[in-house]
Amino acid sequence: MYRTHNCGELRLKDEGKQVKLAGWVDRIRDLGGVKFIVLRDRYGKTQVVVNPDSPVYSIVNTISREDVINVEGIVRARPNEAVTSEPTGEIEILAEKIEILSKSELPPFYPGDEVSEEMRLKYRYLDLRNPKMANNLIVRHKMAFYAREFLTSKDFLEIETPYLTKSTPEGARDFLVPSRLKKGTFYALPQSPQLFKQILMISGMDKYFQIVRCFRDEDLRADRQPEFTQIDIEMSFVHTEDVLNLAEDLIRYIYSKVGIHLPEKFDRIPYEEAMEKYGSDKPDRRYGMELHDLTIHFANTQFKIVADVLAKGGSVKGFKTHIPMSRKIADEYSEFVKTFGLGGILWFKIENGQIASTTAKYLENEYLEISKAFEMKEGDVVILAAHDNRERLNEALGALRLKIGKEHFKVEGFDALWIVDFPFLEWSEEENRFVARHHPFTMPYVEDLENGVELSKIRAHAYDMVINGYEVGGGSIRIHRKDIQEKVFDIIGLTKEEMEEKFGFFLEALKYGVPPHGGIAFGLDRLVTIAVGADSIREVIAFPKTSSGTCLLTNAPSTVSQKQLEELGISLR
Ligand code: AMO
Repeated sequence: MYRTHNCGELRLKDEGKQVKLAGWVDRIRDLGGVKFIVLRDRYGKTQVVVNPDSPVYSIVNTISREDVINVEGIVRARPNEAVTSEPTGEIEILAEKIEILSKSELPPFYPGDEVSEEMRLKYRYLDLRNPKMANNLIVRHKMAFYAREFLTSKDFLEIETPYLTKSTPEGARDFLVPSRLKKGTFYALPQSPQLFKQILMISGMDKYFQIVRCFRDEDLRADRQPEFTQIDIEMSFVHTEDVLNLAEDLIRYIYSKVGIHLPEKFDRIPYEEAMEKYGSDKPDRRYGMELHDLTIHFANTQFKIVADVLAKGGSVKGFKTHIPMSRKIADEYSEFVKTFGLGGILWFKIENGQIASTTAKYLENEYLEISKAFEMKEGDVVILAAHDNRERLNEALGALRLKIGKEHFKVEGFDALWIVDFPFLEWSEEENRFVARHHPFTMPYVEDLENGVELSKIRAHAYDMVINGYEVGGGSIRIHRKDIQEKVFDIIGLTKEEMEEKFGFFLEALKYGVPPHGGIAFGLDRLVTIAVGADSIREVIAFPKTSSGTCLLTNAPSTVSQKQLEELGISLR
């Protein structure tokens, strides 16, 4: 037997017990005679004491950090002055036997040392020995476990869907897998189980879920990985409200199990309103600084830049904040909004009870009115901009709001909300046509379709859940009627032939009795990232890829042998 206890569980009540522990040597200290070894495993750390008269005293000199050892001894209370607040901080083990199970060479770094992310990913096994990283994986496990428990208790079935499959409709690039048996053909790894889960509803499974890996070959960011995990859900005979309520309860439950209490009810904000107020469809409302339409205050403006924009039917929008503001900072913010296509920003502040700004002499009345409308106090700043494209104006100011928020304010707590009524379509510059914003199986508002609403304004029964400015989940009610499905294909300009080739198997299934259904998928990686307060999803994935899609541990992707290529009928260009 290697151990009677783990390194995190002994307490004062165990005093006097003969115990055996195993683990990694976290630290060795020599206090002029008495030697201390801190033994570590994933459960915690326990201090081992070796007195000069101990028969194992000489072994300690041969032990180094990160060796794996076995220790046997007696639990004793630490003297008062040596007690710490750590879980095992009231006891120590008086060593009687020590055995080295495996030596460690000098590692490139010790767990928890500040080293580059490249190093941490290359030697991920050392990195994961850091208790903070281990905790991330523990939280991840718990959230997945409690999701399974919750959904099972609500009659959901976990059903697996294939990884070797056909292209799915999520609209990113596919990862392809060549077929050896049918040379020249390819499987696609699923971007999501979307069509399979809908087919499971047609099969009468009624309530499905799966904690499932999805694959998307897209450009990577801090919150994106080429393979990531969804908590994927689909339900029959439901309206939007049913899905939102179930999903909200699920997320509240799994967060509560890791000690986070989300609001009783998540606000539901229509997409249009979110864009107007925050310039984003995933707002972090903890920063405040809502955008306001200030056009009315410029009705009689003589300031040419703004007057010209208004003459073109444009608007002025802005927000109030409280930051140190100078010409230099204003220049930086102007450069920032220029990347969104705006000309720059205007700003003013209240200093010594007066309006202060580089443009105050041209816009005195306008600024005075705005300062009243915003009830500005000493030190308050208003930042504003004008543009004739409302979407662009919202987006630019929304991004600036977030930048200022992140740079100047430390926010705490959790803001959870729903964005609902997404636009059904979005214009694709690349394809020069409207494409489905969520996917082409999402139910549009039939009344919008029938009332001839402008294409870009048709709403969808689609929703996202947003926590602290991250899109953590997204879903929709699906089309269950063939006539609506055909109309949708028509609008997005897909011919019957194209649809047949891409999704023929699915359209066939839609013919044979489809229950009204809908669902959602959550990004598990993102949910965990938020729960542990990490700044990248790589921190909560055991073996993630870098932003260029490589696994630094294994060096994947890598070349393959000529023989493998020949078997697949592939030659490289
Ligand atoms: P969607 O594409 O919105 O919807 O994905 C659902 C959720 O998955 C997470 N996510 C990602 N996480 C990490 N890395 C990525 N590359 C990545 N891409 C997406 C996000 C997102 O909210 N089939 C639909 C769901 C449905 O309609 O039921 C779908 O996949 O948190």
